[in-house]
Amino acid sequence: ILAADGETAPRPNRTQDRTQEYAGDHRLGEFVNEPDTDPALPANQRWAEQLIEPVRASDWLAGRPVPEAVESVADMESRIATGKAAAAGWRELGAAGRGKILLAAADIFANRRGEFLTTMAAEAGKTFAQSDPEVSEAIDFIRYYASQALDLEQIPGARFEPDELVVVTPPWNFPVAIPTGSTVAALAAGAAVIHKPSSPTPHCSALLVECLWQAGVPREVLQVVAPSEGDIGKALLSHPDVDRVILTGASETASLFKSFNPALEINAETSGKNALVITPAADRDLAVADLVASAFGHAGQKCSAASLGILVGSVYDSERYRRQIVDAASSLVVDYPTNLFAEMGPLTEEPSEKLERALTQLDEGESWLVEPKMLDDSGRLWSPGVKDGVKPGSFFHLTECFGPVLGLMHAKDLDEALELQNAVDFGLTAGIHSLDTGEVAQWLDEVEAGNVYVNRGITGAIVRRQPFGGWKLSSVGLGSKAGGPNYLMLFGDWRDAELPG
Ligand code: ALA
Repeated sequence: ILAADGETAPRPNRTQDRTQEYAGDHRLGEFVNEPDTDPALPANQRWAEQLIEPVRASDWLAGRPVPEAVESVADMESRIATGKAAAAGWRELGAAGRGKILLAAADIFANRRGEFLTTMAAEAGKTFAQSDPEVSEAIDFIRYYASQALDLEQIPGARFEPDELVVVTPPWNFPVAIPTGSTVAALAAGAAVIHKPSSPTPHCSALLVECLWQAGVPREVLQVVAPSEGDIGKALLSHPDVDRVILTGASETASLFKSFNPALEINAETSGKNALVITPAADRDLAVADLVASAFGHAGQKCSAASLGILVGSVYDSERYRRQIVDAASSLVVDYPTNLFAEMGPLTEEPSEKLERALTQLDEGESWLVEPKMLDDSGRLWSPGVKDGVKPGSFFHLTECFGPVLGLMHAKDLDEALELQNAVDFGLTAGIHSLDTGEVAQWLDEVEAGNVYVNRGITGAIVRRQPFGGWKLSSVGLGSKAGGPNYLMLFGDWRDAELPG
């Protein structure tokens, strides 16, 4: 996948000793992706040990900042008025003034990486292997959008009028990167923000907002609120002074928000039911590794996850190959993030009804190649499951389940694989493993998804290199993708600039 501007420069992979103070040397307009932590470095292993200790002792979240509860509709209305009144001053700083503050925030995130990892482990059950790249992504979003905002001001003959007040309602599965991305995009564009955390992950939201405040974003410009009742949340989402709501969540949530206020400008990144196709022309070993990582990373709780493997022709016919997939899944170390060797962690919350069904039931024609097992009585720790024989049009073919279950489907050829892949209502991510350039070209032409990956896993989009956003029911009101060059344009309107004289 090429970068948005066509560059193919590899992601830098510097080795950093995380115990050293981070010396930010980034300048607006010069974007470089933030490197992840190198787990092979002994200093970083000691660092991780010391970070996970408070999670083992279960005393991390107590005493950490939480978003302020908003107890009444009147209180919420006063927050809205505060945000709206603060918007003009923030806009007048200009992209460069705002960008300076945001770059400082990125350095604060980098220096407080450890706190983010500990908080995600304690609150969301994320393993460090999953949460460390998430912090890098949050930092990338901040630096990228801070720079992109400069461009918005430099289009001749046109003036960008940012929204005044944007409400951000992020998800719990990426409780740092996505909330940071949406919040900072709106801030960089020049809007004030009210951030409403996802209910399972308020500490993650409170921490990221605190870092932005620490960098100098005024508290009136960025507020974080936890409505104590549904009606108060509804008052926020239906208020005429809210210009836009950015949602990342289930399709049903987007419809619910719309029902509060049909005129609401809502930009939503919603569900996915994503498949990775493996053809006989694939590097099959690589395909197994990518399929399993994409299916079971963060226990399958990613909108981008590969929930289906579509095996074409002789790939499906090979019992040995299906066994290889099962062996790869079954050999994952499943444990809580307090085990630093865990490769798959727990669910953030107990299974939803849909996931419960996917974990415990088979439909006609399906069989378990390996059945998911509940590993303790928390209801959250499950071993990976692989079901075979998923039928076209069945529950598991078409429904997002959001957990550690992978379904295998059979296609006789690439045309049929594409039919299965495109039959779902969503179109978020999709992948193919094939070394046949003709097959890949056909697939790229016909597959219906926003993020398409060739000979790679289908999760883990990287800011600027793989702008992220779906088609079909995976997206509501989004013409541009997160982490891409047009994203900030969502947050406002264009006016013709007055000509001099
Ligand atoms: N941006 C996340 C990913 O690509 C959802 O996996």
